[in-house]
Amino acid sequence: MTRITCPTLRTMVVAAEEAATFVHPGDNVGMSGFTGAGYPKAVPAALAARMAVAHGRGEDFRIGLWTGASTAPEVDGVLATAHGISTRLPYNSDPTLRALINSGEVDYVDAHLSHSAQNMWFGFYGNLDVAVVEVTAILPDGLLIPSSSVGNNKTWLDQADRVILEVNSWQPRELEGFHDVYYETALPPNRRPIPLNGPMDRIGEPYLRVDPAKVVAVVETDAPDRNSPFTPPGVESRAIAGHLIEFLRHEVATGRIPPSLLPLQSGVGNVANAVMAGLGASEFTDLTAYTEVIQDAMLDLLDTGTLRAASATSFGLSTAGVHRFMSNIDSYKGRILLRSEEISNHPELVRRLGVIAMNGMIEADIYGNVNSTHVMGSAIMNGIGGSGDFARNAFLNFFLSPSTAKNGAISSIVPMVSHVDHTEHDVHIIITEQGLADLRGLSPTDRAERVIAHCAHPSYRDELTDYVARAKANRPHARHTPHLLDEALGWHQRYLDTGHM
Ligand code: COA
Repeated sequence: MTRITCPTLRTMVVAAEEAATFVHPGDNVGMSGFTGAGYPKAVPAALAARMAVAHGRGEDFRIGLWTGASTAPEVDGVLATAHGISTRLPYNSDPTLRALINSGEVDYVDAHLSHSAQNMWFGFYGNLDVAVVEVTAILPDGLLIPSSSVGNNKTWLDQADRVILEVNSWQPRELEGFHDVYYETALPPNRRPIPLNGPMDRIGEPYLRVDPAKVVAVVETDAPDRNSPFTPPGVESRAIAGHLIEFLRHEVATGRIPPSLLPLQSGVGNVANAVMAGLGASEFTDLTAYTEVIQDAMLDLLDTGTLRAASATSFGLSTAGVHRFMSNIDSYKGRILLRSEEISNHPELVRRLGVIAMNGMIEADIYGNVNSTHVMGSAIMNGIGGSGDFARNAFLNFFLSPSTAKNGAISSIVPMVSHVDHTEHDVHIIITEQGLADLRGLSPTDRAERVIAHCAHPSYRDELTDYVARAKANRPHARHTPHLLDEALGWHQRYLDTGHM
């Protein structure tokens, strides 16, 4: 049965190769996609093939590529391999593209995800020429059933001059009703409070809108989302999860948070999955999530009832997780809601709901500044993603990492981070497998003592303690945040000198 029941848009169906001809060199292109879900499956590859032909003729064919967040090899991978990306925003985790960004070939605008749509509306990013958006189905009146992520699709469809739709029949038709797209956003000075008071409040509509006059092509596909595999939680991840859950128990016991906690936000990756698994094995029940991505472990929690409901902008499921979701899809209806990322990550809402934010990090310094994005200060890993949106506005935020990287050769606790994403003013709690440092209400020197004692690996503790002592001794009139600048910077240089980067 066709997924395109709108008579006008039905006449626009073409092959991906033809659709790709509507993208021109130098265009800014807004594609769907968030954490490997809901990205276009066919047009990017067809576009990459056109780029390769153009480059073979000595012509420059590159585009500015804008998405919801990370995508998949079928988008970032193929376009990077074709050397077809000039600018990329707001988030990338593709290794091929990462190498081009770090070599200086691609300009990367690493943005807070909650900012990416509004920066477009504000005119900060320039004109959006084309939107390429995957949907599940097109209804008779032209409304679009979104697919497995919403991301920035509302904004791309609204702002682009030309629109290409991919209708993917692999996406379950039953996704209808899983989305809540809020259209009442306005620009300053006309903004009004967003009327969302609970994580599962419906404030919008289940469909995306598109002006049919802007649609230049519709492509039919039948292809799976990229399914990221998860490794079972390792010893370190389980230890980190254990410290975090113990701390939540403590906060409940003090009466600062209710027994069902506050809405949870969990970053992506194996540590985040381990935390969710740890919650599943704990006594906590009736939890909610106000987050970006539904990972496998969240399905587990929904299945057991530990998690009552979850609001996000995307799925990020493994192959097994996708099968599980698809075969029980009706049981998740009403308990999972996908929103635009400007709403899932909205600072106003994160602060109102009192979200508990849990995100990974590359390194933290002894004073509580956190680096989530850069290795040795210069090479981008992924990007800030939603970590700033959530951490800065959360009721409680946690930053999680093993205490060392590269088999113990690098300490994740350092005197001064080589790049700052989250400042000492924002960071509440740092956790490694060694332990947990609660930094709330502490002065910088008290924070340093706690971070070193609780989070640093034992093999680095003495060196860090000695650093603080000498910094204090050498700077008698600058003891608020004592530093020895040459040494703080040299801390990272020594890893470079020994070839660890
Ligand atoms: N120095 C050098 N390299 C380091 C390091 C350090 N202090 N800490 C980690 N790394 C390297 C690891 O060795 C690994 O490298 P590899 O890929 O070559 O093996 C890589 O960084 C990833 O580290 P890993 O331990 O596998 O952690 P992770 O998968 O949990 O990811 C982040 C950690 C920080 C990269 C990840 O959480 C991230 O991208 N965060 C920013 C975005 C975000 O927070 N999003 C959540 C909101 S939605």
